[in-house]
Amino acid sequence: MNILITGGAGFIGSHVVRLFVNKYPQHRIFNLDKLSYAGNLANLSDIENKTNYTFIKGDIVDAALVQKVFTDHQIQAVIHLAAESHVDRSISNPLEFVYTNVIGTVNLLNAAKEQHKNKEASFHLFYHVSTDEVYGSLGETGMFTETTAYDPHSPYSASKASSDHFVRAYHDTYQLPCVLSNCSNNYGPYHFPEKLIPLCINNIKNNKPLPIYGKGENVRDWLFVEDHARAIDVIFHQAKTGSTYNIGGHNEWTNIEVIRLLCRIMDTKLNRPKGTNEKLITFVKDRAGHDLRYAIDSSKLQKELGWQPSLQFEEGLAKTVDWYLANEDWLTNVTSGTYQKYYQEQYTKR
Ligand code: NAD
Ligand code: DAU
Repeated sequence: MNILITGGAGFIGSHVVRLFVNKYPQHRIFNLDKLSYAGNLANLSDIENKTNYTFIKGDIVDAALVQKVFTDHQIQAVIHLAAESHVDRSISNPLEFVYTNVIGTVNLLNAAKEQHKNKEASFHLFYHVSTDEVYGSLGETGMFTETTAYDPHSPYSASKASSDHFVRAYHDTYQLPCVLSNCSNNYGPYHFPEKLIPLCINNIKNNKPLPIYGKGENVRDWLFVEDHARAIDVIFHQAKTGSTYNIGGHNEWTNIEVIRLLCRIMDTKLNRPKGTNEKLITFVKDRAGHDLRYAIDSSKLQKELGWQPSLQFEEGLAKTVDWYLANEDWLTNVTSGTYQKYYQEQYTKR
């Protein structure tokens, strides 16, 4: 099968590409990514020379380019992760999120629809990777299930909700074989250091303040990124067309609890006296429209397809810290912007 993975140079996408390239040598994996600030080919340096892997630099907002990728490489399945993914950026520049997350998704759907019409192309599946943020915000109790009504609050979640609706519309209107999944907050290696956990790992390392929005009482449900990639693999291979699965590790923490745990882990790893890192915690102005609590009920995925998260949060967080401490070059290249200059130049030259 020729599988197109979009956004494969980003955080989650790189884990999905790695898993598929290594696990399925019989499939050809095409990674389409525009290398935005969040895309980094260093995330894939260990598999870039594999014979079943091809990188294509391109923007999914460019409909002609997307169509050409489908015909040139006879794409038979799509795993769509490319997106603008950071809530704070969506508050300052919502339109960028509409272009990539909505228009980019519709461009991919149109190309997939054409491919599906051509019986010889044997187009198999459009898998749309989405987020729990489309469901909105929970109070102190309850969990998001697959039937929870959509109620997005940020421009990011509104754009993701819109893309989810388009995917379902193409399934119902054009019988395009589609599946969706909505996952909770991921953490782990290659997470871009603008997001809470890698930002704080980097700041602790450099003795810089840890900015906690509001009172740090907002709750997120954290999942190790490799567990998300495994769930995508299981859903890609086993889910019925038209179905949706929630993905999450049943692992709720307030932000302040997460950062205190991180501070303790890093006191030990950096040989600092207990309590040193907590002094860096700084409460700052809250995010506008900040969702209070996310919690995912992933029992459908666990019961129907047998997926289980593999790591406890404390273990996953310690493993993540180890990765960042062992990969200082990656972190320095990302925070200085060097990674972008290098790869942008490489691909402009080709
Ligand atoms: P990311 O920001 O780390 O990576 C996004 C990737 O998409 C980057 O490589 C970027 O270059 C690429 N991209 C952006 N715009 C593009 C465009 N117009 N054309 C082609 N490529 C483009 O994002 P992530 O955290 O890895 O998230 C991946 C997907 O998973 C997103 O769809 C996101 O909504 C979803 N998701 C993320 C989380 C999370 O916790 N990070 C949780 C649930 C769902
Ligand atoms: O729930 C899934 C979503 O998780 C994904 O769809 C998004 O792509 C991903 O970015 C993530 O969104 P969040 O907004 O939850 O993640 P972020 O790391 O930005 O923030 C996590 C929590 O920490 C949130 O309550 C805001 C808070 N926060 C964040 C930052 C960056 C802070 O307190 N301080 C910060 O500096």
